[in-house]
Amino acid sequence: MKKYESLFQPIKIGRVEVKNRIGLAPMNLNYTREGYVSEQQLAYYAARAKGGTGLIFTEAMRTSEEDTRRSFYDNLHLWKAAHQKGLTELVETVHYFGAKLFVQMNIGPGPQATSKKAGLQPRAASPVPFQVQKDCQPKALLPMIEKGIIYYGWKGETPREMTVEEIHTETEQFAKSAKMAFVAGADGIEIHFAHGYLGHSFLSPRFNKRTDQYGGSLENRMRFLREVLQATRKLVGDKPTVGVRISSDEHMPGGLTNQDVQKIVKALEKDGLDFYHQSCGTEETMLYFFPDEDGMGLDDIKAIKAAVNIPCLAYSLHDPDTVNKAVSEGMCDMVILGRPLLADAEWANKVSEGRIKDIAKCKRDLWCLVRLLQGLPSRCTQNPDLGRERYMPEYLRGPSKMSYWRSNL
Ligand SMILES: Cc1cc2nc3c(=O)[nH]c(=O)nc-3n(C[C@H](O)[C@H](O)[C@H](O)COP(=O)(O)O)c2cc1C
Repeated sequence: MKKYESLFQPIKIGRVEVKNRIGLAPMNLNYTREGYVSEQQLAYYAARAKGGTGLIFTEAMRTSEEDTRRSFYDNLHLWKAAHQKGLTELVETVHYFGAKLFVQMNIGPGPQATSKKAGLQPRAASPVPFQVQKDCQPKALLPMIEKGIIYYGWKGETPREMTVEEIHTETEQFAKSAKMAFVAGADGIEIHFAHGYLGHSFLSPRFNKRTDQYGGSLENRMRFLREVLQATRKLVGDKPTVGVRISSDEHMPGGLTNQDVQKIVKALEKDGLDFYHQSCGTEETMLYFFPDEDGMGLDDIKAIKAAVNIPCLAYSLHDPDTVNKAVSEGMCDMVILGRPLLADAEWANKVSEGRIKDIAKCKRDLWCLVRLLQGLPSRCTQNPDLGRERYMPEYLRGPSKMSYWRSNL
């Protein structure tokens, strides 16, 4: 345990204390019941909390009905009161097993949307479609794209430019959804502006060709994000923890750079942002979105951490020694693990007990993602229990520790 001591120090994110430096990454696994929290989701998140993970991020939740209709993916919804009921159950379950819960909220699929579902043309900052880069894909994914089993193929549909009125509507709707999350008991929320989705399309000079107040200079390109944060703060106040996820580099010529992201996070810190959560790349450059090896984003997160004073959460580190090095050497404040916690829900407990050899390792075969891209619930080649946690009684919360919680508003 001594070796990994730094990983088991508590950390304050905004006003929320998290017991260690290990988080579960937001991952949509297609387990919802038409947007509502399912028994399977309660058990899936319970397993990771019980496994010692300090901070649980939910998958990206949809914040408006309009954007839900455009999205291919079957994510959780958070845009009407009925959606709060399941979220409350989820909060209580994660708390019961000793972790904190942050809700990731996506403002819209943007260029990644599809008209195939509801006949609606995708909307984004500008009419720029995404183009998958063949030479920048994870090894396991390329053959799947070539076989045509992934819904978008090589190129996205051309979106239409969002009107200013639509931007304002989505901003207001986002803030209302954020309030719903806190009323339901969430410890924090994360504004999802990464991966080439709607928010990212505004930040990126490659996707954003607007000539109005939302395009052109970096200040204009970050206006949408700043307005979303301001509108959220107006509704929820200064106390609740609010962070952002932005790709730390787009890795495309003319795209969002790490220097841009440093400036954006710095500006948001002044506006009351509580944390930065890294990701990298977009659906064009999936190799950075789902790296084939550890450490592809470390230089980026180091540079962002050096530029700001809020906690900086690194992504995609799988090896316990690399995770430990990143935190103990101050490259980041926490590491948020995705696929490793699909392969082994007990990852954090095993590291804290020094049982490194017992960890079931993620093989980066992306079976979890491929299933999702085929419209199926996610599974893992290394963990037969993934997707079946609801049949395992140890992940059901018991009545004895049912705690009373107060909204964090
Ligand atoms: C099946 C799957 C679904 C994902 N869904 C989301 C999501 O809803 N929101 C998000 O920001 N990232 C999502 N991601 C990306 C992860 O959060 C993470 O950044 C990525 O998997 C790389 O980290 P890892 O190497 O630790 O898995 C998803 C990843 C996978 C594998």
